[in-house]
Amino acid sequence: MQKLIINGGRRLGGEIKVQGAKNSALPILAGCVLAGEKVKLYNIPELSDVFAALRILSCLGVRCTYENGCVTADPTVIESVCVPDALMREMRSSIVFLGAVLARTGECRLTFPGGCELGPRPIDMHIRALRQLGVSITEKYGELICSCPHGVKGTVINLPFPSVGATENIMLCASMAEGETVINNAAREPEIEDLAGFLRTIGAKVRVSPSGTVRIKGVKTLHGGEYTVMPDRICAATFMAAAAAAGGEITLKGTVPSHLNAVTEVFEQAGCLVADSEDKIFLSAKKPLRAVREIQTLPYPAFPTDAQAPIMAMLTKAEGTSVITENIFTSRFRHVDELARMGADISTEGRTAVIRGVKKLYGAKVMAPDLRGGAALVCAALAAEGETTVTNIKLIDRGYENIEKTLTELGADIRREKS
Ligand code: UD1
Repeated sequence: MQKLIINGGRRLGGEIKVQGAKNSALPILAGCVLAGEKVKLYNIPELSDVFAALRILSCLGVRCTYENGCVTADPTVIESVCVPDALMREMRSSIVFLGAVLARTGECRLTFPGGCELGPRPIDMHIRALRQLGVSITEKYGELICSCPHGVKGTVINLPFPSVGATENIMLCASMAEGETVINNAAREPEIEDLAGFLRTIGAKVRVSPSGTVRIKGVKTLHGGEYTVMPDRICAATFMAAAAAAGGEITLKGTVPSHLNAVTEVFEQAGCLVADSEDKIFLSAKKPLRAVREIQTLPYPAFPTDAQAPIMAMLTKAEGTSVITENIFTSRFRHVDELARMGADISTEGRTAVIRGVKKLYGAKVMAPDLRGGAALVCAALAAEGETTVTNIKLIDRGYENIEKTLTELGADIRREKS
């Protein structure tokens, strides 16, 4: 068990490179199953979730190596179609292996995925869509037994909600289907275009339209290739929230500023100066922050649910009252009670949180409730007076590559210790 010890109250400053996107890397790693030849991936972040995906690939018979952000995967021979329960439980994204394994082998056996506890996270849309593609799915003792001995057949799928995971699963499965698949009301998150970019690299015919339609013309085989994963927009938003909360001036390089438009708008409303050029974002927080207009988390291009907790941490010290409504998940305010231990004044009712800015936050002993909630506590700790101890940081390590190293580069006083 490890913990982070943070001495708050220091302004942040400097330039850091943002890591590759976890939420892109995981479905792309699943996509390696489809390739008939070696795949090389760059900008893969060093995260426990990435290692879990690599273990799933190994179980399937894909030989993988990881070195300095580069994954090589040799999926020439797929030896197994089963994903062990322990690996399924490690993360939500394990479910996207289903579409990939089915497309490549015609069968797959796995259990329900795990992941952060943010309220119910069903997979009914995934199942319904795969059935529409001709997959037979039965559930026995918690195991999903899936097969399509005659291959998958392209069709039109109208998603009831633009689910990121379901869109990815369909794209992976339909890449080797017979005929064309059209996904209407598909997710429009940048990670969808990144997965499409990877699939095109290995020979798939995928087109993503900005209006939320994805068209996939199935091909018989896919080949190898090299691909670089996009930057992590949620990590960028988190470090911006940290600098805004603690005060200071930071530059993030290796970003795609347009991916952060909805988040940037909130920082500007709070009184920060945000500028960008090419792949850099500059944020300056010199004055006390102000409360912002109501934030609603919604599918991209609106404000992302993953940035909700770090932004809330930043708003705890903003002058005035801010309101955040969480529309994606029913239980994504578990960081609120922990922030309260540090002196934050937040009340919640259902999906809405009301944040009344306080003059000071104080160091405290807090526990990461989930990945982004944990990152929010780190942001608050940097802005707090005194020492904060954050425990349960294995959840933070799921999504942030060596968070203490990155924040130390920005001048923070933060260290990792064994509990
Ligand atoms: C979601 C986020 C994604 C974020 C990820 C991790 C959205 C739209 N998606 O992706 O940005 O990176 O969490 O925090 O913001 N749902 C169903 N049935 C399904 C699938 C989903 O009811 O089969 C519901 C979920 O319970 C949730 C909503 O749809 O309320 C969003 O789901 P989805 O986009 O699929 O979730 P993730 O792929 O986990």
